[in-house]
Amino acid sequence: MNILAIHGSPRKGGNSEILLQAFIEGTKSKNPKLEKISLYELKFSPCIACGECEHSGECVLRDDMTEIYPKILSADLLVVSTPIFFYSQPSMLQAFFERFQALWASKYILHLSHPFNKTPRGILLALGATKGKKLFEALVRTYKFVMDACWGKYVGGLFFRGIDKKGEILEHPDILEKAKNLGKEVVLFEDEANWNLERSPTP
Ligand SMILES: Cc1cc2nc3c(=O)[nH]c(=O)nc-3n(C[C@H](O)[C@H](O)[C@H](O)COP(=O)(O)O)c2cc1C
Repeated sequence: MNILAIHGSPRKGGNSEILLQAFIEGTKSKNPKLEKISLYELKFSPCIACGECEHSGECVLRDDMTEIYPKILSADLLVVSTPIFFYSQPSMLQAFFERFQALWASKYILHLSHPFNKTPRGILLALGATKGKKLFEALVRTYKFVMDACWGKYVGGLFFRGIDKKGEILEHPDILEKAKNLGKEVVLFEDEANWNLERSPTP
């Protein structure tokens, strides 16, 4: 299994990065090919809606995303770990998602297949400070659409409320255990039915 692990927070060493690290630890039980990328360490812009990808299937912007597209396409699993910002995703994660427009255009306008005939699966690891009932609704809706754009499918996630201060997640070993176990499950079981995830549309 080829895993692309995407970190979406500007806060280095913060809660979502610790959560992602726990997931990565779990995957080590089988040594998969795994690459972690921290979006805030990259330089790329949001989609500029130039429409060029509707003709070529490729993004005309030349920035750090140019190297990320092949990684997205060779991944079997895309794990996004992120905090909630304003009931949605942090800006760089939004920009990253927008750049899937080139893949969306390839699939839905040019009617191309996935270049390696994969159906990548998408997982979210998400957290926020408040206890809002609909805290993860926008993120989940967006990520479902993003996974569909890259010929894949969203399969679920782990969602945690009431986590705010930097490193506060370390006070919740149960949460980190869940993420680590999920990391183990994704490499041990091919069928995602065996992955302990929340699958509800409004977690
Ligand atoms: C700009 C900004 C906006 C935020 N918006 C929300 C929000 O809408 N709902 C919420 O529950 N928490 C919100 N938070 C809190 C973060 O989700 C929380 O601090 C989280 O633990 C940060 O994770 P990190 O350490 O991985 O960055 C916001 C934080 C920032 C900095």
